[in-house]
Amino acid sequence: MLELAFVCVIKAEFEGMFSRVVVLLVLFTYVVCGFVLQKQGTPLRRSAFLMSSSGNVMPSTTKQIALQSLKSLGLMAGPLAVTVLGLQQQRADAKLDYDQKEYENRPNKQDQAVTYNGVPPDFAAVRADIANMIGERADKGPTLVRLAWHSSGTYDKITKTGGSQKGTIRFKEELAHGANAGLDIAVSWLEPIFKKFNKATDLSYADLYTLAGVVAIEKLGGPKIPWRAGRVDSFEVSDVTPDGRLPDADKGNPMATAEGLRNIFGRMGFNDQEIVALSGAHALGRCHATASGYVGPWTFTPTTFNNQYFVLLKGLQWVPANSKAITKFQYADPSGKLMMLPSDIVLIQDGEFKKYVDIYAKDQKTFFSDFAAAFQKLEELGCENLFTV
Ligand code: HEM
Repeated sequence: MLELAFVCVIKAEFEGMFSRVVVLLVLFTYVVCGFVLQKQGTPLRRSAFLMSSSGNVMPSTTKQIALQSLKSLGLMAGPLAVTVLGLQQQRADAKLDYDQKEYENRPNKQDQAVTYNGVPPDFAAVRADIANMIGERADKGPTLVRLAWHSSGTYDKITKTGGSQKGTIRFKEELAHGANAGLDIAVSWLEPIFKKFNKATDLSYADLYTLAGVVAIEKLGGPKIPWRAGRVDSFEVSDVTPDGRLPDADKGNPMATAEGLRNIFGRMGFNDQEIVALSGAHALGRCHATASGYVGPWTFTPTTFNNQYFVLLKGLQWVPANSKAITKFQYADPSGKLMMLPSDIVLIQDGEFKKYVDIYAKDQKTFFSDFAAAFQKLEELGCENLFTV
């Protein structure tokens, strides 16, 4: 039982190869010593309790004492190794996921100095750092795409407010908007890159967030999206646009949800075809109960940018999800592993949207080129004086 519990702890706690090797060595020592002792006539079960106070299983030879000690050491070292290495792993993960201090200290207020000294950054080097980060952890890519989209999708073509131009999504006031739940983490991931390049050059948050989106899409197998630099950050919290400028996943019924999408994307200047193309970004990533309250990925390949979102949207039988772990209304496929939001399903319920789902499900090349055009447009909404780098 003890060994079984030990193995379960290892399985649950450990991902790293080093940790596994250490723990397996300890386990191996324990089992081998127990085996040798048993061969010598000391029963395995009883030998495990040699050091206990029972007193009736004392070894008779020096060799047995040595083996018994080694075995007991193994027994104690196991849980110790589990605890120490588990804590180390936890600390490393926390650092990787979310550097709270970096995030809190970011220069996002008027009175905090950020250098703007007329030297353009080496954008190839910035790209390389973003790509390396995603190379180390591909699942960061989708969240960076979402950050780029939410930083841009606040644009209003009538008032010409919002959009990626001023980098305001880094302000806690904008991150607190309902639709942005979970994006503070992505902001914190980019903070070290901002600090590295902003020391001596003019890298802006607004350029960094939008560049991270296109680098992530390309790195995860998607189209190369033209990207231009020159966004200038605002240091005025008053530039944060009102909450409610991003689309709702559910307006209660398909007609209202479709209308909601057309209103929100129409305000930015997008038509039906562009709405459908942009929604194809849900090939990537997943919903997190801790962020939106929805749960699960849209495709079986959430770190690969492809047209699977459309293929699966059309090809699978989507039914309302029925699981205790899911608290909001969403759809599930027959395997129960994939999900769709009401705003995804509406793309096959609405005839005008569905026309484009059919095209993109059949033709990945057209999807890639339409997506690239729409995503560049999205990232440049409201931006002035951009230049090619
Ligand atoms: C059409 C309206 C849209 C709605 C209602 C919507 C809604 C959502 C929701 C609820 C999530 C889950 C967030 C979470 O729980 O972490 C999500 C994730 C995501 N969205 Fe959208 N979205 C829409 C359009 C878009 C667009 C236009 C893009 C990009 C072009 C996009 C890219 C993503 C990505 C990549 C993720 C995954 C993030 C991750 O894995 O952390 N979405 N979206």
